[in-house]
Amino acid sequence: MTKELGVGIIGCGNISTTYFSLAPLFKGLKVLACADINSQAAKQRADEYGVTAQTIEELLANDEIDVVVNLTIPDAHYPVSKAALEAGKHVYSEKPLVLSLEQGEELRRIAKEKGLAVGCAPDTFLGGAHQLARKFVDDGGIGRITSGACYVMGPGMEMWHPNPDFFFLPGGGPILDMGPYYLANLINLIGPVKRVGAMTSMASETRTITSQPRNGEIIPVKTPTTIQALLEFVSGATVTLTASWDVWSHRHANMELYGTDGSLYVPDPNFFGGVVEASGRDKDIKPLEAWDHPFGKINQESPNGSRANYRTAGLADMAMALIEGRDARCSLDRTLHGVDIMTSILKSGAENRFVDLTTTCTQPAALGIEEAQALLK
Ligand SMILES: NC(=O)c1ccc[n+]([C@@H]2O[C@H](COP(=O)([O-])OP(=O)(O)OC[C@H]3O[C@@H](n4cnc5c(N)ncnc54)[C@H](O)[C@@H]3O)[C@@H](O)[C@H]2O)c1
Repeated sequence: MTKELGVGIIGCGNISTTYFSLAPLFKGLKVLACADINSQAAKQRADEYGVTAQTIEELLANDEIDVVVNLTIPDAHYPVSKAALEAGKHVYSEKPLVLSLEQGEELRRIAKEKGLAVGCAPDTFLGGAHQLARKFVDDGGIGRITSGACYVMGPGMEMWHPNPDFFFLPGGGPILDMGPYYLANLINLIGPVKRVGAMTSMASETRTITSQPRNGEIIPVKTPTTIQALLEFVSGATVTLTASWDVWSHRHANMELYGTDGSLYVPDPNFFGGVVEASGRDKDIKPLEAWDHPFGKINQESPNGSRANYRTAGLADMAMALIEGRDARCSLDRTLHGVDIMTSILKSGAENRFVDLTTTCTQPAALGIEEAQALLK
């Protein structure tokens, strides 16, 4: 095995710039080529980042490519990842890995048969803030986690996304879109889930686009836009997860976990950084002492403020895991368990019953300061 994996990116849209620009920070990765069904999009990224634009077929036949990074839209994740595995490439996908457990099991079968790895975002749980929370939990900071509450709520996507249709169709919705961040973080902090129950609804059967260029156009809603879920973990902890695009404002925190000896306040799981707070039995809520974690350092300015962004850390960890022969943190088992949780939540809402999960996974290894530093060049 070489000490660096050749990377080919399929899907050259919005998020691809993050991968192209952040991959050079990490060991084990060399982005060589890109492809897209829209050849212009591939050519644009190739010119911007000095890689080769290829057709999808050329990229899959390229002997220098070891890993295909699938940054296509959710509906294309399964066929693109399947084609990459069949071409003998490892796969790392943007979330959600697939839209059904059956698709994920098929990827697992092909990967196993061919001795290939599959990994998937989100990797934000590898961020400095979330790993600080993990260390605090592992060190017994709040005792045994017994319960918690998570909220990811907003008014929707039709006011900013130019083509928001897919968000409101089966395979979209707030749980499949935003749920992966919360579930990856909960698996990181608590471990696997045993069963789920949910009530699901939609505030409206249509939405009116207010973004340009389709301002005023009415689009159908065919998937729940409010999901109130209850998760029972193998550990015995029970956590509520509310995901909605029917809420204009609220005052709930992203993630609060309650333990036998205190409470933990985890910042937004969609980002790498943020302030982690906790209280003991004295109920005095204070920020945890910040630590010098490489993936908590601010490295980007955005219109919403400065932030730590190390997306591709999960891909780099998978590459190093392949090189070193160890378990990857953003592994197929963990991400497929996340898909099982999300699709079971929707099933529970549709069928009005609790749903036992058929998959499980282990907690990923913690990523402390030294382990994170070892992923960087
Ligand atoms: N945009 C973000 O900020 C963001 C953040 C985190 C995760 N993601 C995830 O990343 C993925 C991509 O999101 P995006 O915002 O970049 O979308 P996008 O629509 O901007 O880009 C997707 C690209 O994939 C291409 N594509 C679609 N189907 C294809 C196929 N079958 N084969 C090859 N190319 C195909 C499209 O032509 C397009 O260029 C999604 O799964 C999304 O959930 C996006």
